Amino acid sequence: MKFQDQVVVITGAGRGIGYALAERFAHEGARVVIAEINLQTGQSAADRLGARFLPLDVRDARAVDAAVETITAQCGRIDVWINNAGVAHKGLAVDLTPEDWDADIGVMLSGAFYCARAAGKVMLAQGRGSMVNIASVNGLSAQKARAPYCAAKAGLIMLTKVLASEWGERGVRVNAVAPGVVMTDLVQEGIDQGLVSESAYLSRIPMGRFGALSEVVEAVLFLASDEASFVTGEVLRVDGGWTAYHLFYPFEKAF
Ligand SMILES: NC(=O)c1ccc[n+]([C@@H]2O[C@H](COP(=O)([O-])OP(=O)(O)OC[C@H]3O[C@@H](n4cnc5c(N)ncnc54)[C@H](O)[C@@H]3O)[C@@H](O)[C@H]2O)c1
Repeated sequence: MKFQDQVVVITGAGRGIGYALAERFAHEGARVVIAEINLQTGQSAADRLGARFLPLDVRDARAVDAAVETITAQCGRIDVWINNAGVAHKGLAVDLTPEDWDADIGVMLSGAFYCARAAGKVMLAQGRGSMVNIASVNGLSAQKARAPYCAAKAGLIMLTKVLASEWGERGVRVNAVAPGVVMTDLVQEGIDQGLVSESAYLSRIPMGRFGALSEVVEAVLFLASDEASFVTGEVLRVDGGWTAYHLFYPFEKAF
């Protein structure tokens, strides 16, 4: 049990990648806190895993500060914090509203910053801690109809590097994982809306398949653990080759 008795907080862990992380950390002996905006999924995830549920909208900086206070009061410390909460507004840039823009930036960039700031203070006082930000291949390479999502994830990657630089000598590591396409409700919603097809995704991925939740989980676990004790400011791609590959269709048609 790699995380025996460690306090691990995961935002947006009511479903998808966050839930898979909560399940695995619980299995590794951690005291898991699910910080989630959706009361129903958050509570039932916590019940299933024997975890704590903390209702939280990461866009609300004061609520984040209060949540961190509650966690430290109840658990005494924070060993691992994972910024996972996410939303994805899709549409060409000229068609998106300021509200669409604010939604993605608010959850995945500002929200991650509010959490990092509050949890970081606790970890710095402890002289120990590990933060992992769930970024995306969309923070490294552009995708049409994803302006706010790509901008939020690119910002999150740079935030990761700044925090790693500021906190490195004080025992707190900050890293990011950049998943490619993993079939969760978030991805399925985009397919259902007809914005992208499953076959288009698969043809873009050199490994020819979607990532498994467990493959993202393994990368996060490594970065969160002492096995990565000299790793900070890293962006670990778990993308089946997505960012290595630049599709050049007219040429590749021949192969
Ligand atoms: N699925 C993929 O292919 C993929 C690829 C790359 C990156 N990611 C990233 O992984 C993370 C998880 O994605 P997922 O596919 O599991 O999505 P998901 O939609 O299944 O889960 C996201 C969770 O975040 C919660 N959430 C949303 N807004 C919140 C807020 N304001 N405060 C607290 N919680 C909030 C939701 O209620 C939900 O439980 C996201 O950051 C996403 O951008 C996913």
